[in-house]
Amino acid sequence: MVRVFSGAQPTGIIHLGNYLGALKQYVDLQNETDCYYCVVNMHALTIPRDPQELKEKTLDVAAIYLAIGLDPKKATLFVQSQVPAHTEAAWLLQCISRVGELSRMVQFKEKSKGSAESAGVGLFTYPILQAADILLYQAEKVPVGEDQRQHIELTRDIAERFNRDYGEVFTLPEILVPKVGAKIMALDEPTKKMSKSAESKWNSIALLDDPKLIEKKLKRAVTDSENQVRYDLETKPGVSNLLTIYSTFSGISIRELERKYEGLGYGQFKKDLIEVTIDYLRPIQERFQEIRHSGYVEEVLKDGAEKANQVANETLSKMRQAMGI
Ligand code: ADP
Ligand code: NA
Repeated sequence: MVRVFSGAQPTGIIHLGNYLGALKQYVDLQNETDCYYCVVNMHALTIPRDPQELKEKTLDVAAIYLAIGLDPKKATLFVQSQVPAHTEAAWLLQCISRVGELSRMVQFKEKSKGSAESAGVGLFTYPILQAADILLYQAEKVPVGEDQRQHIELTRDIAERFNRDYGEVFTLPEILVPKVGAKIMALDEPTKKMSKSAESKWNSIALLDDPKLIEKKLKRAVTDSENQVRYDLETKPGVSNLLTIYSTFSGISIRELERKYEGLGYGQFKKDLIEVTIDYLRPIQERFQEIRHSGYVEEVLKDGAEKANQVANETLSKMRQAMGI
């Protein structure tokens, strides 16, 4: 069975970009693969966090995994910090990684805002922790959004180097991005990706936003002055982004949507999109409320950690042996 690994940071409520780029794929894959989905809370530490809030958000993300339809009988769900092998493996991999290759990571350049001197060391080295996450599970496929491509390539480079220098230990992972939705753009600034860390609340829609807020956000979403519902990433990034969201939530192809709204303009288009979005998210929100404080989430994570520890420790002992410690 194909092995799959992925994870999301508990740094804010999961938004449509996270969902359409990554989490929806998690669910699609759970029946036919052996999959491991992690809440990567140690990655969240690369930027200062309130400890109590981090704890709560870790459980929030786990509850969202369950609420979107992940089934603990089919997928192993766990929290990164509950599997100590991740940090040890990350250290071993750091010792074969290069400052140069990390310096080329676009995400580091963006998040450190160009001032490497004052950026946290963890922010710099976190792609290696991410490599450890993936490699410990011998993952063949890594379902993520387009923004993670460079990190997955780095993971492969590090794995290849380890295999060459110390003997074949790791499976080389491949990125898996969805055909539609691999890069959802910000609603208020459709030339940038939708992001949890954006300052403006008009940037994204969280899976848990209430219907009123979803309506407000979509009404304010940037379009253009043409008033024609047409998919064109170059000249109509805002409308194209909304079409992508509409299409994935409704199952209607973008082509068909263009035809449906021919001559109707943005008013009707947005009105329907608001309804489609609210309807799609409602059962997820209901399920979330049902389970979040029921004790079920913690139970699932405990079982998940047990299973994850077994798999991760097996790879870790191969690494240790190969490196002579
Ligand atoms: P964020 O980038 O929002 O802080 P994470 O780093 O936790 O979130 O990413 C979780 C997953 O969501 C990753 O697989 C990432 O590639 C994906 N992702 C994040 N933003 C987007 C986006 N705007 N469009 C598509 N996928 C995204
Ligand atoms: Na499975």
